[in-house]
Amino acid sequence: METESIYGDNLPAMEATINVVLQAMDKLRQDMTERYGSDPVEHCLGRIKSEESMREKCRRQQIPETEQSALEIIHDAIGIRIVCAFISDVYAVRDYLETIDGMEVVEEKDYIKHAKPNGYRSLHMILRYRDRYYVEIQIRTISMDTWAALEHHMRYKKEAGSNDALITAELKRCADELASTDMSMQTIRDMIRAEI
Ligand code: GTP
Ligand code: MG
Repeated sequence: METESIYGDNLPAMEATINVVLQAMDKLRQDMTERYGSDPVEHCLGRIKSEESMREKCRRQQIPETEQSALEIIHDAIGIRIVCAFISDVYAVRDYLETIDGMEVVEEKDYIKHAKPNGYRSLHMILRYRDRYYVEIQIRTISMDTWAALEHHMRYKKEAGSNDALITAELKRCADELASTDMSMQTIRDMIRAEI
């Protein structure tokens, strides 16, 4: 017997939901480029969580490996990451997402204003499209993205070692330095815009 996808026959509609968000981003990028002469978004990446990761997440959460779990209990079957140059662009993207027709903001976690204890920063939103598909959005600056990639690497590739506490503390220090640089860059950008 052929194993059926945990997403049932929803994959095309889920792809379409990603495209709704990506098209909205294209529109925002065009509008802001026309208005300010600079593109708020460096890049966007949309993905559907792999069959394997979704099943693994269901097992971890001790819920049945069903379409209902994947689409209604777990909210990150669809994930989109939007990377911006500046902090103010992160919030411009956030505000724009909310205006997409049929898109409802279900949850928001601002790990930029309130960084995680390990230094992780990003703006997270859970959106719901047309009362059906949840979409997990991560919006962050290039610096935040660089840090998250490195931290992810360290966390998953490395076995426990004697330097762990030091590594954690150093990573946190880097996160805070990057955050400080992001704020300086924002100030510079604001000064440049004030002169135009
Ligand atoms: P999940 O059950 O994993 O979805 O976590 P959650 O529901 O508590 O949501 P949270 O907003 O904390 O994290 C969601 C996603 O953000 C994760 O799957 C990661 O992609 C990213 N993330 C959160 N915290 C960290 C972190 O400390 N480091 C990195 N690299 N990524 C993180
Ligand atoms: Mg999540």
